[in-house]
Amino acid sequence: MSVNEDSTGVLLAARRRLISPSLTLSYRQPLHIVRGTMQYLFDQTGRRYLDGYNNVPHVGHCHPEVVSAATKQMALLNTNTRYLHETLEQYAESLTSTLPEPLRMCFFVNSGSEANELALRLARVHTQSTDLIVLNGAYHGNTTTLTHISPYKADGLESGRPSWVHIVALPDVYRGEHKSDDPRAGEKYAQPVGECIAQLESQRKGLCGYIAESCPSVGGQLLFPEGYLAAVYAKVRGAGGVCIADEVQTAYGRLGEYFYGFEQQRVVPDIVVLGKPIGNGYPIGAVVTTAEIARSFDNGQEFFSTFGGSTVSCTVGAAVLEIVNQDRLQTHAKKVGSHLLAGLRSLIDRYSLIGDVRGSGFFLGVELVRNRDTLEPAAQEATDVVNRMRDTGVLIGTDGPFHNVLKIRPPMPFNAEDADALVTCLDDALARSEIS
Ligand SMILES: Cc1ncc(COP(=O)(O)O)c(C=O)c1O
Repeated sequence: MSVNEDSTGVLLAARRRLISPSLTLSYRQPLHIVRGTMQYLFDQTGRRYLDGYNNVPHVGHCHPEVVSAATKQMALLNTNTRYLHETLEQYAESLTSTLPEPLRMCFFVNSGSEANELALRLARVHTQSTDLIVLNGAYHGNTTTLTHISPYKADGLESGRPSWVHIVALPDVYRGEHKSDDPRAGEKYAQPVGECIAQLESQRKGLCGYIAESCPSVGGQLLFPEGYLAAVYAKVRGAGGVCIADEVQTAYGRLGEYFYGFEQQRVVPDIVVLGKPIGNGYPIGAVVTTAEIARSFDNGQEFFSTFGGSTVSCTVGAAVLEIVNQDRLQTHAKKVGSHLLAGLRSLIDRYSLIGDVRGSGFFLGVELVRNRDTLEPAAQEATDVVNRMRDTGVLIGTDGPFHNVLKIRPPMPFNAEDADALVTCLDDALARSEIS
């Protein structure tokens, strides 16, 4: 049978035959999605789903202006960065204008993983050191090196974790050692970084740096406590290391209040890593750093990416950024995000299963627990809720180290009506959990 036949069963069988089983499908009843427009997806029967968690189509699935810019440029020229072309410089100019000084030097690649790989190379060359501090529960990408610094998906690590990787506790003020009512939680969570540096110094080892998602997403949709990154960055810089902010999940106004996640912590990183939303589905990754770090890297070993920074990818990148600014999507995320957060919070008193509701703008998490005192994770219940919501036409996901956090990160055009629909749908799904 041909895989083109319009049948979920046929597609599933073909997938089992042809696609690695290490790649899982979303939902117990997999979706066959054939079309997308802004915050909606449509299956092969024409049924519409409200997309409440795909953050890659940042300005909306198949946004017509992005599609038009990409196709026009594709028909005219798509070549690499070894020629002068206004698209590259213009895109770099508009991208760096969103970032604080001294973040002015751009590298363009094709994915978040490539961008993080490059960030590590820059940090190593600049510091002439290898040892790196990473957060527990982090995810930074799919290459061999990044798997080593990504505790989240490292269960079956092929070759053990190298000794240059140092994992510190995730600053989780709900589940971690220091809770949200502790005004010094940020400072306390930064202490293990200082201890790690002291240990390296006692071994006469240098520090390459510290990397963290500005708001851990797979770690459970977390916002760092106040003062955390400022304390960490001071310690890391004091030891000669560089501070890398992985903004792959949080860039471009998703947090509503902030254009980048690191702004919430009032710090300026040395290297910023960008991916997913900046291409709205077109594969673009970027690294923005200081002139000083870029100079260290200019050591004779040329950096070139065949497709990174191509004419089409820069055109797409510029179009996405223009829409973010023109449509004031950050302000929109702030307004609708707080409406959505209030709606989600209104469910807390009615469902004991809800342990915590957190986040900012369109970066939200609802943590489900079986017991509010022991915080026993309600992973099975979270999976049930997400699947019930899918059946009623609203798509969200689960994440967190215990897979019990409902992940809500919609495309930015998501509106107040969508927010109400999501809350109603979650309400119904939770009500059925209480009954069953
Ligand atoms: C925080 C973070 N960094 C990096 C990556 C890797 O990006 P990509 O899948 O584009 O390689 C991801 C992907 O999920 C991510 O969530």
